[in-house]
Amino acid sequence: MRGKLISFEGCEGAGKTTKLRMLKEYLEEKGIPYLYTREPGGNPVSENIRAVILSPENAAMTPECEALLYAAARVQLLHDVIEPALAAGKLVVCDRYVDSSLAYQGEARGLGQDFVRKINSYAFENYLPDCTVFLDIPPERAFDRKHGADKNDRMEREGLAFHNKVYAGYLKIAGQEPKRFVRVDASGTKQETFEKVLSLLQSRGIL
Ligand code: TYD
Repeated sequence: MRGKLISFEGCEGAGKTTKLRMLKEYLEEKGIPYLYTREPGGNPVSENIRAVILSPENAAMTPECEALLYAAARVQLLHDVIEPALAAGKLVVCDRYVDSSLAYQGEARGLGQDFVRKINSYAFENYLPDCTVFLDIPPERAFDRKHGADKNDRMEREGLAFHNKVYAGYLKIAGQEPKRFVRVDASGTKQETFEKVLSLLQSRGIL
């Protein structure tokens, strides 16, 4: 039986990395077979594409080029990593996926959802997540919590106005697809948020 695919989404500083680490520990403790991967990246070709996308040297990259590179990295990740793991019946846990493209490129960069859906049609048609966990905390609050935004890569260097548009994009998706794309309040402690994530995944029959 094909495994389930879940993805995690959130703005910068929403605490995805910590919650995903806690989830991995939980899955290991319970002996649940899973595969963890991240976007963009997760295999040698897509990691190379990631370096191109995020390099501050590529400040001249157009939004369309950026969106196509994310889509290209995604197709390779599906082929190399996600498809085989699902075929082996594993639970696939993806740190960012198609909704990042909808929110960042579709909404914040202004390309529109139709364009993003079109260039990612292979993923949308064949590998839509069974559940997407959106760690919901507005960028301003997230930056306050971590005492300012990181400014290491091209996306992180975008200002608060851009990150607010990303956040608004995520809320829009939550309105469009409330069954799949679920908001989890991420403003509490790590443990509180993680417990909310666990109970959501349990209630969906994923764990
Ligand atoms: P990463 O360092 O993995 O960020 P984070 O820890 O916030 O997940 O960098 C990925 C960046 O790429 C992040 O700023 C979000 C952005 N992104 C898009 O703009 N579109 C996409 O489709 C994906 C997958 C990521």
